[in-house]
Amino acid sequence: MPRRPAHPDHEAAPLSVVILAAGAGTRMRSGLPKVMQPLAGTPLLAHVLELAAALGPAATYVVYGHGGERVQEHFSAAGAHWCLQAEQLGTGHAVLQALPAIPDGHRVLVLYGDVPLLRAETVRPLLENAGPRELALLTARLADPTGYGRLVRGPRGVLRAIVEEREASARERRLDEINTGVLLAPAELLRECLPRLQPRAPHGEFYLTDLVAMAVRRRRRVVTVEAADANEVLGVNDKQQLAAAESEYRRRRAQALMAQGVTLIDPARIDLRGPITAGRDVLLDVNVVIDGPVHLADGVRVGPNCVLSHCSIGEGTVLHANCVVQHSQIGAACEIGPFSRLRPQAQLARGVHLGNFVEVKNSEIGEGSKINHLSYVGDSRVGSGVNVGAGTITCNYDGANKWITQIGDAAFIGSGAMLVAPLKIGAGATIGAGSTITSDAPAGKLTLARSRQVTIDDWQRPVKRPR
Ligand code: UD1
Ligand code: CA
Repeated sequence: MPRRPAHPDHEAAPLSVVILAAGAGTRMRSGLPKVMQPLAGTPLLAHVLELAAALGPAATYVVYGHGGERVQEHFSAAGAHWCLQAEQLGTGHAVLQALPAIPDGHRVLVLYGDVPLLRAETVRPLLENAGPRELALLTARLADPTGYGRLVRGPRGVLRAIVEEREASARERRLDEINTGVLLAPAELLRECLPRLQPRAPHGEFYLTDLVAMAVRRRRRVVTVEAADANEVLGVNDKQQLAAAESEYRRRRAQALMAQGVTLIDPARIDLRGPITAGRDVLLDVNVVIDGPVHLADGVRVGPNCVLSHCSIGEGTVLHANCVVQHSQIGAACEIGPFSRLRPQAQLARGVHLGNFVEVKNSEIGEGSKINHLSYVGDSRVGSGVNVGAGTITCNYDGANKWITQIGDAAFIGSGAMLVAPLKIGAGATIGAGSTITSDAPAGKLTLARSRQVTIDDWQRPVKRPR
């Protein structure tokens, strides 16, 4: 449908957003309230609150009910007003719960808490095209409209009503123009009409969608705006739709990343759940999961099955397969993994090598240092050019307290050393393989702590006794 020019008066009326989030979500078959189900690692409602905030309303109201305290608690910082719908009597009844708080003269935009993929760019035309006194709907055309309310139009395409799937005739069910749930109406119109909605069998629910037929009977103009991308309007009622939304979200994020020049080996096998910034010539292999903010500098390559959250990775660094990095900073030109684990506060300088089954926590590792095999380095300050041999462990915990291990520049730690903290190993020190070091080791010297090797000449291997 051709868009009318932006309505001249629309800016005069302040906007209140009402998010419907009270439904039980029975079809999810879950103990978690529906709007708390995670999409890309964050609750459905968080996505809708983000959309609301992007529209810059005067106020946002969340209608909550099922699992209420949990929802409210989780979003206490969101700055929304909370309206209790004690009994879930339908979407029309839900909007009514927020209405007393909304002043006359406001336009009310209703968003559904289970429609998480909508973008502000898609909703804005609705705000721009509807006059301050008009009712307006965001619609979409779906290849499979099953489950959605259908728009029923009369001659010359004039909208008559929304018919819910349950009440629709076979002919109406074939209509592919659907109600997305996004509705804009003047507060006065809602105040006048919503209390007059009639309950619908079998559950006695008051449908917000019945407002359309009511407005038509009152000769109100109803404006419709069609969403250009039908993928955005997906309503999430069950686990299948949740997975479909997740996959659409994934597709969208992958596209945006590729548009920035990042190489994705397979855009269908990557999960971007948090913000990511990337330099030039960054490559992400399959099954990489990015949680929380991540920065990847120019030329970073991330191997298959890596999970990264809250971290930055320096220029040209390579993460081989199966690394997990959380709340850490990795410098430039490092080589990490396969199978390395960086726990919070790992700080790696330039050119560090971490190999397989190496765990680093709350430690600084200096430039060019290498920890290549099967080691645990925790609460440590490791200098530059240090070589930590296979199987080395910083024993940082005495059962009650954590202690620091300091290793000076160019130290060489032999394989299998137990470094019992608190401990200082001087610059250029060498620690003999298999040592358990409990006191400071001086710089530039060899320190060993292991019993001498002996050979028993006349020893005989036991033989099995006859029964
Ligand atoms: C609704 C619409 C349908 C539309 C579809 C879009 C109605 C009657 N139908 O159907 O036309 O095509 O969404 O996705 O509106 N809620 C409450 N309180 C209630 C009932 C629901 O807050 O008493 C909330 C739910 O938490 C949910 C939203 O309203 O976030 C929509 O409710 P839901 O039951 O999912 O409606 P649909 O059957 O999907
Ligand atoms: Ca729904």
